[in-house]
Order: sequence, then structure tokens, then C-alpha cells
Amino acid sequence: MKNFVNTDVEKIFIKGENQLKGNVLISGAKNAALPLMALSLIINKDFRLSNIPDLADTRLMGSLLADLGVTFEWKNDCINFDGGPKKDEASYDLVKHMRASILVLGPLLASKGSAKVPLPGGCAIGTRPIDLHVMVMETLGANVFYDSGFIIASLGPDGLKGGVINFPKISVGATESAIMTAVLAKGETKILNAAQEPEVVDLGKCLVSAGANITGLGTKTITINGVEKLNSVNHSVVPDRIEAGSFAIAASITKGNVEISNVRPIDLNLFLEVLRSTGSSVEIFENSFSVSSLKRPISHNIVTECHPGFPTDLQAQYMALMSIADGITIVKETIFENRFMHVPELIRMGAKIVTKSQEAAITGVKKLKGSKVMASDLRASMCLILGALAASGTSEIDGIFHLDRGYEKLVDKLSNLGANIRRSY
Ligand code: UD1
Repeated sequence: MKNFVNTDVEKIFIKGENQLKGNVLISGAKNAALPLMALSLIINKDFRLSNIPDLADTRLMGSLLADLGVTFEWKNDCINFDGGPKKDEASYDLVKHMRASILVLGPLLASKGSAKVPLPGGCAIGTRPIDLHVMVMETLGANVFYDSGFIIASLGPDGLKGGVINFPKISVGATESAIMTAVLAKGETKILNAAQEPEVVDLGKCLVSAGANITGLGTKTITINGVEKLNSVNHSVVPDRIEAGSFAIAASITKGNVEISNVRPIDLNLFLEVLRSTGSSVEIFENSFSVSSLKRPISHNIVTECHPGFPTDLQAQYMALMSIADGITIVKETIFENRFMHVPELIRMGAKIVTKSQEAAITGVKKLKGSKVMASDLRASMCLILGALAASGTSEIDGIFHLDRGYEKLVDKLSNLGANIRRSY
């Protein structure tokens, strides 16, 4: 009989119930690396980034920049950029794979005076519009229109000019777009209701080192005074707090003891407090923290919020932990409208979860059971990995290309901590 299902894709197999122990080194943050790489469109000489994670998304951003004519050499975790963009039109075939591609719009406009970027489209976790990015461009003096699936932005003879950008809603990406575009605009720009995420601050710090004039990073009001040009700069990408948080949950959920190194614990303040409330021991050091747990977690409600609140990017992973907690947990998602796609898969593993609109009620069970499950997006895949690490028996996780977008060397890192995990067809 004809086989209608493509079975020729890699999966992850995990035999659960091993306690994770040891030390794990956290990589550079994907969400910081992507906008930082886009700065190569406006820092045209001797721009060096280190601590770049090797991920499908960072490789894709590299391809997008190369296609725009940016030249660079990428060796291990370092990229040396030397030479700005040669064209102003981003490739649809590259942009369609990654929503963060919209981050090239502002720098491309600042560099070339015009930019043509395909609409990045929706995404599994929600509609994810780009109206705020467009508002940024218009406030800074661009003429923007849509044509055949492209956003086309252009500048008049006066170029970019500063303005007041008052976001009706906090957006990480649109705040980054505003910063990257305003640094080269004439005069002062005020960004009100700005995102305060560590990745936004990291982007701003790199620009300040390159000669940009920015104050208020990490607060809700950012002020930028435009400069004529940016200088060469050497910058190390901030550690990935979401990867660090995911490993912290891996330690808790397996009743293990893991030291998580090369991190900035301050970026995870609230999350680590929550983990303590669930009964885990958390010890904080300068560039690392350790998480250990001896017993079943205790339920603890969370609401996802913009930084410094509980990160939406750790909601799915936290739900895996609460699915085996003692008690009922309410998880409220306030950032994305469709971010519970891991729920039916966790239920396959034996979790008891009911969702209603943006809230999930999780009645903890004593044990999850290894199952065949399907990952629907990046953080949902990590949630299933965590569930499988704690479950009895073997789990088979499909759709793992999502994981490759955001977790560097995940299988190696988990194996080194004692997980029984392999990747195979
Ligand atoms: C970034 C992160 C993502 C994280 C998210 C929220 C990157 C590459 N990705 O995504 O991992 O989950 O922040 O912390 O850094 N919105 C609009 N109009 C816009 C832009 C956003 O309405 O033009 C809405 C979104 O639909 C969402 C909310 O604003 O409801 C926040 O999204 P945003 O902060 O922009 O997320 P991203 O920057 O795409």
C-alpha cells in the first residue's frame, strides 16, 4: 500500500525518570542575536559579535543578510561583519521561515533610504501583526505602503527624523525596530511604553558602544539622539535566559541537581522566585545558579507578562512542571492568543489540563507516562522534552525542527546531565 506519511524525519526519543545532575553551559540568546545581527545593515565596518548560538534561526538570519549583500565570516560563535547591504529587497523565500526577519526593515531603510520586505505572515502561536513596526517607520519619517505581500518603505530627501513613538501595547520586536532606526535619525526620538526585556537592553548597549546616543534602556521610556554614523564595535551576546530557565525546570522536574552556568541570574529574577515557591532549592551565584529538588513540586499560579514579569517563552515549560505538581495550578497567558498548543500533547502523556480562553487549569498528576507526541512550536517542543524527562517509559517527540530553531546542542547538553535521550529516524 502507498505510504502517505513521510516517516523520514528525525525524532527525539527519551527514556524518562533519570535524575539530571551536573553543570550545563548556557549559549548566547537567540532573541538577542537576531536583532544584533541585523545591526550589520547599519554598522558597515569591523562589526564583531561573539557568543552567537548556532541555531536554525541565526543561520537563517545569516542567509538573509548575505542575500542582502552583507559580507561576513562566521567562525564558531563569532561573526565578523565587514560591509553593509548592497540591495534593499529581502528575499521572500528566506523571510517566510522566520517572523523575526521583520527586524531588517528599519536598519535597511536607515542604510539604503528604502526597504522592501515581505510580510512575515502569521505563526502558530498567534496572528502576530506588524502594525507597530510600521508605525515606527512612519513616525520616523518613512512613507510606507503594502504591495503584493511586501511592505515597501521609503524616505524623502530629508531622510529619517526623530519623533515620539508611543506604543499602545508593549512589543519587544517593535521596540528593537524603533531603536535600530532612530539611532541614525536626525534629532531626538522618545520611545514610550518601550519593552524592557534584557535582549532589548543588549541591543541598545551594543549600539551605545558603537557611538549611538541612547538613554533609558531597561525602562519604559527610551530617549535617542541620532548620530551621523556608527563606529566599529565588538559585542558579546547576552546569555539565553529562556534556555537557562528551561534547564532549571529540567532539574526540578527530574528531582535532580543542576548548576546552570554562563547566565545572568538577574534576568530570571521572578522566574527563580516562582521556582522556589514550587519547592525547588535555588542558589544564586554571580554568573550561574543551581537548582535542585527532592520532592514532588507544589502548585503555584502564574500570569505571563512583559519583562520583568513571568516570560511567555517559559510558560509551556512551566506547565510541564505543574502537570506533576501537588495541587491545581492556574496559568494565564496574556501575551499571545494561541499559546496552549502543547496542552493536548501533555494530555497524551497523562496530564490533566482544561483550558478556557487564555487560562489553563492544571490538576497535577503523580506521574506522566511516556508517549508519542508532536511539537507545535519552539517552546512547546521544550515542554514535551521536559514532560518526557519526568515520565515513566519512553517518549517519541516529533516535529523537532522547532527545537533546532532555539536550543543549541540540546541533546548533547541533556545527555551530559544524565538524560537517556537520542535523536534518530
Ligand atoms: C519576541 C520574541 C519571542 C517572545 C516575544 C514576547 C524574538 C525574536 N522573539 O517576539 O520569543 O515570545 O517577544 O516576549 O525576540 N504585536 C502587535 N503588533 C506588532 C508587533 C507585536 O500587535 O506590530 C503584539 C503581538 O501579537 C503580541 C505582543 O504584541 O501579542 C507582543 O509581541 P512582541 O513582543 O512584538 O513579540 P516579538 O517581538 O515578535
